[in-house]
Amino acid sequence: MSHKPETKAIRIQTTQTSQKEHATPLFLTSSFTYDSAEDMAAAFADDTLDVNIYSRFSNPSVDEFVNKIAALEGAEDGVATGTGMAAVFATFMTFLSKGDHIISASAVFGSTHTILTKYLPKWGIEYSYFDMDEPASIEPLIRSNTRMLYVETPSNPGLNIIDLERVASLCRVHNILLVVDNCFATPAVQQPIQFGADLVLHSATKFIDGQGRVLGGVVVGKKELIQQLYLFIRNTGPSMSPFNAWVLSKSLETLFIRMDRHAASALYIAQQVQEHPQVSLVRYPFLPTHPQYHIAKKQMSNGGGIVTFELKGGVESGRAFLNALQMISRTNNLGDSRTIASHPASTTHSKLTEEERQAVGITPGLIRVSVGLENVQDILDDIKQALSKC
Ligand SMILES: Cc1ncc(COP(=O)(O)O)c(C=O)c1O
Repeated sequence: MSHKPETKAIRIQTTQTSQKEHATPLFLTSSFTYDSAEDMAAAFADDTLDVNIYSRFSNPSVDEFVNKIAALEGAEDGVATGTGMAAVFATFMTFLSKGDHIISASAVFGSTHTILTKYLPKWGIEYSYFDMDEPASIEPLIRSNTRMLYVETPSNPGLNIIDLERVASLCRVHNILLVVDNCFATPAVQQPIQFGADLVLHSATKFIDGQGRVLGGVVVGKKELIQQLYLFIRNTGPSMSPFNAWVLSKSLETLFIRMDRHAASALYIAQQVQEHPQVSLVRYPFLPTHPQYHIAKKQMSNGGGIVTFELKGGVESGRAFLNALQMISRTNNLGDSRTIASHPASTTHSKLTEEERQAVGITPGLIRVSVGLENVQDILDDIKQALSKC
């Protein structure tokens, strides 16, 4: 029987053990045993053999999590990592070599920006940035040594959106790998492989966990690409812990209903905040005023759980807004059941120059709200009372 994605997120599970458990077991073990010396030798002889050796290589709890994400993303296979950044870094290290060139959207997560600009050049890998609002600027950047195009859509924190079908066809013509960070949308909202992406990665720390408990990352795509990534991760060690995989796999059971609620509340908050006199601009993928609204509607099933707005008073207003919050949490994470607000210009991106901040869409008064699962009126009331104080 072929099940719908929501059902797969709940029903894909490790084969039941002899204990006949209903909930999925947690395989908290570093290594696995063999019935004979010959079986043990065989396990080590062939890297492609489907047998557990050591939890840096594979583990049933981690496999369950990966199998679910691969099914939800419509991918052939996947591999998990300890954090989202490990997924990004392992992808770069596996598919880029000295002398290669990568093209990336300039609007990418801060640590991804650091890898691109500070580490890759150290190892002889060149990068070029393009502006998400100008996809036509990508093609002129392509060189004979360009191997990868990297995008986040929607981006963090600017919520820029790119037409995946358009960039995928460009990549196909030029034989370039298209890698998409799908962290903000999650596979419940957007499946980039359907539009032609080669590899899709996540910080599972965000909406996939959904309750701000554990770190994790995952990459999915075609089997032959994942096998190369798997060998890099197996040998260099940024593997996911079985405990985190167990937590994340249980979280996936509620991903679809959570994302529906996150998105419904986020849209309502965006619509309401738009009217406020202290706010100059609200950005949300499913607001018709979003510059890439039509692309968002084409490739996302809802607008996701993140809303950003610009306060008229700049940096000082941003600080005052955060200080005035009574319920909403002041923290830098996102994708939690609890609503979170952050002010990138004075926190996560304070070390960037004004020019660098502008390039990634961070204006002085930008507030990012990760809309949680509380009663939406309570969320709105807290935002409104904080707005009245800045
Ligand atoms: C879009 C995006 N990609 C990657 C990461 C990195 O993930 P992690 O913190 O799990 O390493 C983050 C973290 O905020 C993110 O927002």
